[in-house]
Amino acid sequence: MTILLVGSRGQLGREVENKKAARSGSDMVAMDLPEIDITDLAKLSQMFSELKPSIVINTAAYTAVDAAETQADLCYAVNRDGPANLAGLCVKTGATLIHISTDYVFDGSGNTPYHEDDPVSPIGVYGKSKAEGENAVMARTGEHIVIRTSWLYGKYGKNFVKTMLRLAMEKDTLHVVNDQYGCPTCAADLAEAVLMIADFLEKQNGHEGGIYHYCGEGITTWYDFATSIFDIAAELGLAKVPKVVPVSTAQFPTAAKRPLFSALDCSGIEKSFGIGLRPWKQSLKRTIQEMVTRQGWNF
Ligand SMILES: NC(=O)c1ccc[n+]([C@@H]2O[C@H](COP(=O)([O-])OP(=O)(O)OC[C@H]3O[C@@H](n4cnc5c(N)ncnc54)[C@H](OP(=O)(O)O)[C@@H]3O)[C@@H](O)[C@H]2O)c1
Repeated sequence: MTILLVGSRGQLGREVENKKAARSGSDMVAMDLPEIDITDLAKLSQMFSELKPSIVINTAAYTAVDAAETQADLCYAVNRDGPANLAGLCVKTGATLIHISTDYVFDGSGNTPYHEDDPVSPIGVYGKSKAEGENAVMARTGEHIVIRTSWLYGKYGKNFVKTMLRLAMEKDTLHVVNDQYGCPTCAADLAEAVLMIADFLEKQNGHEGGIYHYCGEGITTWYDFATSIFDIAAELGLAKVPKVVPVSTAQFPTAAKRPLFSALDCSGIEKSFGIGLRPWKQSLKRTIQEMVTRQGWNF
């Protein structure tokens, strides 16, 4: 059995590849642009014929939320048409697709964690393109698995934690939004969850396809997330941490609107696959520790 991982040089893809290398089981072929392009159906089809994957994990995406507002065509090509191509080829060849999606498919007008079957109502181009990607995947067959996650960070790529730690070196004061609520998710934890589902698919004949949620346990704001990053950094020896000033979304305009409340209810993934959540502050501390061991305080 072969697992094809697409998007392997992104922040989640790298964690999936690293963790898979440390586990037994099927071989994994890991690819990203330029060797694989999920928008190129002809080349993708050829790749499927050569590799004959039984499971495809798609972590590839267009993730620049603000730039998406002015690059809608590219964003839809990668986030809607790409997953549609992968899902169609998986159906044709008998493979199962594990596809990653986002909390930004919700409008954020609620105040209790979103369930998998709550209606989606995205408020920006990125969220709309991801919602259409989910639909395209689920329309091909109910056997595929979509995992929605939120506020992703990790050792690799660009993310909020690394940005905060970089800014700690450059600034004495930072203004951070305090009225958007969500669940920070460690990419390494999500990678474990994805691989647990892949193991499950390999071992079981039948499985419950559908949409699942996975994120860190606990709800917070970007402001509280930032102060937690600096508390942990100070504890681990960072000499200077900035003062963090809470601001409202209205005071901090961005090109794309973001949901004000996008916490996810993750009980479904626990019930179907036995995957529990990790408290977000514990994962944050472990990740910062790992990053500092790897690269010091140079962000
Ligand atoms: N980041 C978050 O906060 C967040 C939150 C919720 C959900 N998610 C979802 O989680 C998943 C993983 O996100 P991430 O943060 O790991 O993303 P990422 O770091 O941006 O990685 C995405 C990878 O996909 C590649 N890619 C882009 N277009 C492609 C194409 N046409 N064909 C093949 N590969 C392509 C990118 O390559 P280039 O870098 O060369 O473009 C990049 O290596 C995505 O589905 C994302 O929507 C992310």
